[in-house]
Amino acid sequence: AVFSNEADHRRLVERARQALAPDVFDFYAGGAGDETTLAANETAWRGVRLRPRVLRDVSRIDSRVRVLGRELPAPVGVAPVGYQTLAHPEGEVAMALGARRAGALLTVSSRSSRRIEEIAAEADPWWFQAYVLRDRGLTRELVRRAAAAGATAIVLTGDTPYLGRRRRDRDAGLIPDEMFGVNLGPGFDRALAEQAPDVTYADVVALRDVSGLPVVVKGVLRGDDALECVAAGAAGVWVSNHGGRQLDGAVATAEALPEVADAVGDAAEVYADGGVRTGVDVLRALALGARMVFVGRPALWCLAVGGADAVTAGLTELADALTRAMGLAGTATTAEITRGLARAHPGTTV
Ligand code: FNR
Repeated sequence: AVFSNEADHRRLVERARQALAPDVFDFYAGGAGDETTLAANETAWRGVRLRPRVLRDVSRIDSRVRVLGRELPAPVGVAPVGYQTLAHPEGEVAMALGARRAGALLTVSSRSSRRIEEIAAEADPWWFQAYVLRDRGLTRELVRRAAAAGATAIVLTGDTPYLGRRRRDRDAGLIPDEMFGVNLGPGFDRALAEQAPDVTYADVVALRDVSGLPVVVKGVLRGDDALECVAAGAAGVWVSNHGGRQLDGAVATAEALPEVADAVGDAAEVYADGGVRTGVDVLRALALGARMVFVGRPALWCLAVGGADAVTAGLTELADALTRAMGLAGTATTAEITRGLARAHPGTTV
């Protein structure tokens, strides 16, 4: 049991800490600055109290959800996380296999440490996360390759015009050029492959045109920005603060989600990540307006402790824990999980 309650989750983190070299564990676990946003992500979900219903027939619980036209068995996916060969020799390939066997949607990071095509061979369904790079030609090439390899959406990460300063990152050599450049071809210029600070809404259309795929903007924390994303042609808005790794002090995702969901309404799909650790957290996120949620570090910890099999087991267990929580909340389908199911308790702004 790793996702039934917080204590289970803490045990998983401890096992991962033992499995990983200290610098790798800290690179994965850490956040920006004083790590206030990192900590707030987890505690903010705890601050969302549920208002369960009674006397609803919950003999059959159906956690299926439609996401960008595709039916998923459960509203839980894997967030894009870079450099997974640091956690496991098979890296993203094992993550893809593990997610596919659990029926979970996978997001492949632009900073993957295995080639996009190798990952794609094990992944279904999957989205490709794009950073707009200083060399936009390189960006277009990566996105085209992902589309050709079978990605069904492009996730544009908008919260990384620069990389956050993470005090737990002590070794700049943790990610050598060979790992950084796995998808970039020989003789790449590392500076031109860094994130472009001049990324704008115009890039949403550009990515859609070059890929022929729907574009989701990840890293949105405000209702007004969410509306601009939709106006720029985004099919989905992904509430995230990059797991507390970018602007320290940024609002927790549980706090931002209701504002974004209210602004967007039915104009686009809304997803969320950051600090989701239990089936009850997934239920909370759905109640606050997310169509589905993604987990970053929890999937990484599973990969580190037991490769693809542990990823499958962990994601399956998280979905099962959601099903149990849905039953206890008196909601037999994800459509029945509405805003009235959640309430902030004093001290939070949800
Ligand atoms: C990330 N995240 C991330 N996001 C992204 O868009 N592209 C990326 O390459 C990465 N890389 C990455 C590496 C590591 C080690 C972590 C921990 C995170 C952010 C990720 O997609 C997601 O937003 C958060 O991880 C969600 O928070 P939790 O579930 O880790 O709390």
